[in-house]
Amino acid sequence: MMRVMVVGAGAMGCLFGARFAAAGAPVLLLDVDAVHVEAIRSRGLRLVELNGEEKTVRLDAVCEPAVWDAPADLVLVMVKSYATKQALRLVHPESIAPHTVFLSLQNGMGNGEILAELVGAHRVLVGVTAQGATKVAPGVVRHGGVGPTSFGSLSGNEPAGVSSLLQLFAAAGLEASYRHDIRNLLWQKLCVNVGINAVTALCGIDNGRVAALDPARKLCEAAVMEAVTVARAEGAVLPDDMVDRVLSVAQATASNRSSMRQDVENFRPTEIDAINGVVVRYALRHGLTAPVNWTLTQLVKIRELTYGDGKHKAEPSG
Ligand code: PAF
Repeated sequence: MMRVMVVGAGAMGCLFGARFAAAGAPVLLLDVDAVHVEAIRSRGLRLVELNGEEKTVRLDAVCEPAVWDAPADLVLVMVKSYATKQALRLVHPESIAPHTVFLSLQNGMGNGEILAELVGAHRVLVGVTAQGATKVAPGVVRHGGVGPTSFGSLSGNEPAGVSSLLQLFAAAGLEASYRHDIRNLLWQKLCVNVGINAVTALCGIDNGRVAALDPARKLCEAAVMEAVTVARAEGAVLPDDMVDRVLSVAQATASNRSSMRQDVENFRPTEIDAINGVVVRYALRHGLTAPVNWTLTQLVKIRELTYGDGKHKAEPSG
């Protein structure tokens, strides 16, 4: 069984880590949240499954670079896109070997390229997952939705280890496939995040309202149409009904608070640069513009820069 390091023990990192460990794989979680890590170390990781069944999984967790007893076969990168470079510093050089494969299932575009710069493109896999999870408390994660995980190689050459990786996912009861057209799937997932995340974050609405409220739907549609144009200029093949697909995801996850909305509501940095910001930057490469995504990006950045301002103003002066 593969030895797995999970960089980023948020909800999704914990979900995969717990399932792999329960299937018998040695798993080490790396995260900077000392309280969460300590809870996992002392009480185990509690995973509440979709059917309400709870299991406590024993696995290793650390919040600083540590040498593992043998190198990892897989490093699963699950941190927020803006934290990729910094988070990789948690991986001790002696805990990786020439055969170690790095898999990013992060939101947004450009994560694989950052990994490639750090570890070499030949061993980087990038992918998308439709699994869902929420962190309920330190050391406790709820599995929120089941769906396929797809990944493929960044360089175009399949690294050794892909069949062991597929076996690992199967043993963990997680549907997964290796895809040669992974870039198309990354763009499709990006379109979903482009259409839902900033709109829900800025308006403070659940995902379902993006489809249900006329002005929110129009904003979503306009942002996705720009992303589709840019994706096609980049050579991606996207379905003609991409906008409808994004609205279907909004309906299927109607009561979800999108990840960006959760970030904004908790005064955390967002992934705006790796989502709507990417559309703006890649548009320029092709002499295109993406004004809707530019505006959404600026508005989210204003929110980030003014976190806590309301609270500050409410405080008595003098
Ligand atoms: O980032 C998110 O929140 C999710 O990718 C999605 C699909 C928009 C559902 O909330």
